[in-house]
Amino acid sequence: MKIDVLTIFPEMFAGPLDASLIGKAQKKGLVQIKIHDLRRWAENKYQSVDDRPFGGGPGMVMRPDVIDRAIKSLNLNRKSKVILLTPQGTVFNQKKAQKLSKEKHLIFICGHYEGVDERIREHLIDEEISIGDYVLTGGELPAMVVIDTVVRLIPNVVGKPESLEQESFTTNRLDHPQYTRPADYKGWQVPKVLLSGDHQQIAEWRKKQALKKTKARRPDLLLNNR
Ligand code: ADE
Repeated sequence: MKIDVLTIFPEMFAGPLDASLIGKAQKKGLVQIKIHDLRRWAENKYQSVDDRPFGGGPGMVMRPDVIDRAIKSLNLNRKSKVILLTPQGTVFNQKKAQKLSKEKHLIFICGHYEGVDERIREHLIDEEISIGDYVLTGGELPAMVVIDTVVRLIPNVVGKPESLEQESFTTNRLDHPQYTRPADYKGWQVPKVLLSGDHQQIAEWRKKQALKKTKARRPDLLLNNR
């Protein structure tokens, strides 16, 4: 998979995408992530990518011409998907991540300021994603959240594929509780069934616990088939 990110803060991306599994995936060639400074495509002497809103009002608006030139420079093909990160987008979830993990080329545009010129939405992007009903200072952290979630679903990025199949939201259940050594710490005991070696009983116990936790914390997961 190829991922291009268009941002006015390229320096924000170095740590999160270079460390851990995403860093390894890049080194192994499973994904190629390129971060581009949007100011490269700004043409005036101040290198501005934004301007005042027509009709007045506070804040600044991202210019469509800069975004258009940036996108055009990225060797798009019919299969490339251009995604804008803004609070107005469709709310991201695991199902969406699974769909995006099958794409060949993703382009993320990090929204900023008061917003983006509406013509960007109308003519230049395929979809708009929000990571939740709260407002961040820009689309950079949301882009990293989406990239992290999507890249770990690419085959061979996570060592054991079973761990992806079983996890929260893929199954519409929260995870069951996990325990490790020591079996008794200060009198805090690990449930006996987990030490029994009876795989069927363990599987049943885990299923029950996952359901109990989901009912208590996220009953919505049991109702809608997201
Ligand atoms: N930019 C600011 N807030 C955002 C959010 N919640 N999701 C995506 N992009 C954003």
